[in-house]
Formats: sequence, C-alpha cells, structure tokens
Amino acid sequence: MIFDPIQICGLKLQNRFVRSATQEFMAKADGTPTERLGELYENLASNKVGLIITGYSYVLPGGQSDSLQQGIYSDRFLEPYRKITERVHRKNGKIVLQIVHGGRQATVSKEYPVPIAPSSVKDSHSGQTPREMSEAEILHLIKAFVAAGSRAKEAGFDGVQLHCAHGFLLSNFLSPYTNRRTDRWGGSVENRTRIVTEIVKGIKEKAGSDFPILAKLNATDGFRAGSSKAKQALDAPECVEIAKILEKAGICALEISGGISEAGSVTIKSDINSRAKEAYFKKYSKLIKQAVGIPLILVGGIRTVSLMRELLEEGYADLISMSRPFICEPDLILKIKKGEVEKARCVSCNLCFDIEGIKCNFEFD
Ligand SMILES: Cc1cc2nc3c(=O)[nH]c(=O)nc-3n(C[C@H](O)[C@H](O)[C@H](O)COP(=O)(O)O)c2cc1C
Repeated sequence: MIFDPIQICGLKLQNRFVRSATQEFMAKADGTPTERLGELYENLASNKVGLIITGYSYVLPGGQSDSLQQGIYSDRFLEPYRKITERVHRKNGKIVLQIVHGGRQATVSKEYPVPIAPSSVKDSHSGQTPREMSEAEILHLIKAFVAAGSRAKEAGFDGVQLHCAHGFLLSNFLSPYTNRRTDRWGGSVENRTRIVTEIVKGIKEKAGSDFPILAKLNATDGFRAGSSKAKQALDAPECVEIAKILEKAGICALEISGGISEAGSVTIKSDINSRAKEAYFKKYSKLIKQAVGIPLILVGGIRTVSLMRELLEEGYADLISMSRPFICEPDLILKIKKGEVEKARCVSCNLCFDIEGIKCNFEFD
C-alpha cells in the first residue's frame, strides 16, 4: 500500500511518501531561493519521494521566523522558484510550497520589534508579548497569503500548503489559548478558523479552483496534560471540528502535526528509539480520519517500515510524512522499495538543525 499511487485533488502522486516541510537554511538573507535548494529538491525527486513540501516560506517580510528562510512575499521570487520547480518536474517529482507567517513566533528585529498575533498573550518561551492584530491587519494578511498562493502557482508549484501548525500565525488563530478575540475572528471554532477559510477562498479565486491547497494542522498545542495552559489550549475534539471546516472549505489534504514552541519539545521529538515512540500524533490522525474524507498525511517520528504499512492499513493516515529521515537518507524510499531497510537510519538527535544548511551531523559508527 505504501507504494500505491494516490491523488490529492488533481495532483497525482506515485506513492504515499511525503517529505514534510523542512526549513533548509539555504535561502539568501532576503528570502530569495537558491540553486542549492533546487539541488536538494531535485535529489529528493530523483529518489522517488512522492510529494516534496518545501521549507516554510514567509508571505510578508515581517513574517520571517528563521535565518536564511525562503520567502514568497514578492514577484521577484518567481524566476528562482520557477527554476526549482522545473528541476523537480524534470525528474517526475511533485512539489508543493509551504507558506507561513511567523505570528507570535516571528523573529524580532529593528524593523519588526513586536510580533503580531490574534491576541496579546505572552509567549513564555521567547519572553515576547505580541501585539493584537487589527481588523485591517487581518485583511492585509489574508491578501498576502492569497498573493503567495497565486505566486506559487505562477512559479510552477503543484500546490501550496498553508502552515496552520507549530505556533505560527495561522495556528495562533486556531488555538483558543492564543486567540482570545471576541470579534468574528475569535470565539467559536468556526470564527477561529475563518482566517484560513478566507485564505482558501481567496487562493481559489485568484489561482483557480483546481489549484491544490493543502494544510498542515496542529491537532494539539501540546501543553502537558493537566496543566493550566492545557485547559485553555487546542486539542481533540476541537481539532476534528477544524478539520471538518477545512475540508468543507476545499482543502485537498491535511497533514496532522502538533506543538507550539511554548509547550516544549512536542513537534520535533528527539530520541525516537523504539517503535512505541514513533508516530506520536497518530491518535489525533485516527480521530480526524474518521471524520473527514480527504487524504490525511501523518507526520512525527515515523521510522519503521512495518509501522508505515500499519498506519495506512489500520486507518491512521493515507500518506506517510517524514522530515529528519530524508536529511539523513535522501534515498530512503528507494531503499525501502528494494527491501534493503526495515527502518530509517535517523536517530532523531536534531543535530540536523544546521544554520549553514540542513545536514545529518550525527556520527554513525
Ligand atoms: C530542520 C527542521 C526544519 C523544519 N522546518 C519545518 C518547516 O519549515 N515547516 C514545518 O511545517 N515543519 C518543519 N519542521 C518539522 C517537520 O516537518 C516535522 O513535522 C517534524 O520534524 C517531525 O517529523 P520527523 O520526525 O519525521 O522529523 C522542521 C523539522 C526539522 C528537523
């Protein structure tokens, strides 16, 4: 089953493997994508990764949250991105651009000294207290996401993925912990999801209703169960309601993840050294899969081939997404296909976060 083709809206994928969005630290300082990125994606395509999702690309200059992060806030990025998508397509690969605004977790700089968020809730991880966005700023942000989606299409991407996870701006809106608004952008699940559904509507109008829009969704903010923050935070069953709203809005596939930086190491867990620790968001994807009909992509510590098969067969997901294993072994899918490996080599040490460009820095014996 893991090598069966699948279709996401009109997008035909050769197998069930997804390279989850991974910030590569390979763009220029102003966000311009580089040849180095093209090389990395071309290599993944040559190695038969069914769908490649780029590192997160910021839709407005103030929405950056990492150094050497790629951007999509200007038409000047069209040409370099076009070169990248052409390289991937020449190898019969499929590539989707992940788009983001850093929101509460955006980098603070001289030009952007205060992060923006739906509400002014202090982030105990960064120590920053964001500024509550005005209605005009929300409308401006929606326009920026729509322009980014439309640029992605122009640059030859096979779709976009809205980054609605990991504590960045769209997930700040979805979560009742970070969104305390009482206007039409806050309160009910429907109101908190409105910013995303408006972006979907806008991209469909501008880029065409057949342009695939995916979303990476936080199923949980990830605070320790029983803690005072956990009581206010996003978790099941609300994430199921959000998924249903997104499906209705026309999202083609949902990638299930979790965690915001304030909650600690939830998104990118280290030391996944037993099968029991793998697929750490699977209980959420099972719940969501029972409620929606669109393809579900599961990410988070998936390493063992027999588990990948089980996740698909037992109704946890339709696609298997990985980030760190592909940094360690870009040819992992070919190895699995040939039956050469039972498990990814990645030890989840997180040394791959290399500000000179992601790479596996673990010293294997
Ligand atoms: C170096 C690095 C950069 C990442 N950058 C992104 C990103 O740009 N967007 C995103 O949604 N997730 C990002 N993630 C999270 C991964 O997509 C994935 O959700 C997480 O690493 C768990 O999957 P894994 O266990 O297969 O690595 C990143 C992870 C790593 C290790």
